[in-house]
Amino acid sequence: MKTLVLSVNAQELDMRKIRFAAELIKKGGLVAFPTETVYGLGADALNPDAVLSVFEAKKRPLDNPPIVHVCKVSDVRRLVKEVPSKAKGLMKRFWPGPLTLILKHSTIVPEVTVACLDTIALRMPSHKVALALIKESGCPIAAPSANLAGKPSPTSARHVLDDLDGRIDAILDAGPTRIGIESTVLDLTVDPPQILRPGGTLYEALAESLGRVILNPAAVADKMLPITQTSSPGVKHRHYAPNADMFLVEGKADAVMCKIDELISFYKSKGKKVGVLTTDETKTHDGSGIVKSLGSRNDLAVIANNLFRLLREFDNEDVDVIIAEGVSDSGIGLAVMNRLRKAAAYKIIKAS
Ligand code: TXA
Ligand code: MG
Repeated sequence: MKTLVLSVNAQELDMRKIRFAAELIKKGGLVAFPTETVYGLGADALNPDAVLSVFEAKKRPLDNPPIVHVCKVSDVRRLVKEVPSKAKGLMKRFWPGPLTLILKHSTIVPEVTVACLDTIALRMPSHKVALALIKESGCPIAAPSANLAGKPSPTSARHVLDDLDGRIDAILDAGPTRIGIESTVLDLTVDPPQILRPGGTLYEALAESLGRVILNPAAVADKMLPITQTSSPGVKHRHYAPNADMFLVEGKADAVMCKIDELISFYKSKGKKVGVLTTDETKTHDGSGIVKSLGSRNDLAVIANNLFRLLREFDNEDVDVIIAEGVSDSGIGLAVMNRLRKAAAYKIIKAS
């Protein structure tokens, strides 16, 4: 299969290209498209064969369901048993945007789309290209992130092609994504609502809106939890993993810098090619491997935006070991730390 690259401009939509992509979706094809968070790999959510081919293209385990994307709030109704009042309030405040809601699904949703669960993940993205594609397709679009299972999510069309070229029909390329980290997944089937995956919609904003919201233990854990303590199907699979062996160093800035220098020397003495994922304030590990900065510790949004791209760059440069620095877990930092810990497979070193 040849993967067609359709370049589009989000400001001035070329509807010919969008309609062409929508026709592919209607015929059961696979189209990668930009959202404000990361690129998704889309298929008609109500066509079980199409959704199955999404799992195949990504080599994703069938027990980890994708997010179903809609282009208007009223599209949710036929996909769910009921729309609870909390959901209505959240949709009003946060949609379109990086918030995925877990609700009980209706009978029209194929089993493969929801991995045989009785719930469905729903989101209305804010990217103009995504909204236009869903509208023109005339169906809800099931779309996991457009990476091979286990790889960092793609924040540019290049990343999608690196993983899926020749495995999908087309990609709508609208340049790099704005947020660079995935949506927040919020379970509304439990009381109080529970954040299963921190992401682009901040915990602080949800807490303010809902009064009470809790973080699933696995979302903030600094070690792998037994599966019984997790309720998100995605949690049990390895995620966001670069090819290199990765370590995450957490603690106060000075202690972290010392520990990182110590680790660099250790791995260099073993003949390893070392990559260091650091911040502007601490990127002084000179002459000591490939140093990449996520950005300033004072601008966590920039750090979130650079994270997956830099992990992929390290892979392309074939480093053996990545030593990464932890950041604050406030605001979007909560999502950044969740992804860093998973990428490191919970190999966390506390510096003191
Ligand atoms: O920003 C995003 O969320 C991107 C863009 C493309 O929208 N999508 C994305 O999809 O990250 P994906 O499939 O890579 O992640 C979906 C997450 C997974 O962790 C999955 O386990 C969880 O949502 N999920 C899906 N259905 C669920 C359900 N019924 N209950 C609990 N978690 C669910
Ligand atoms: Mg994903």
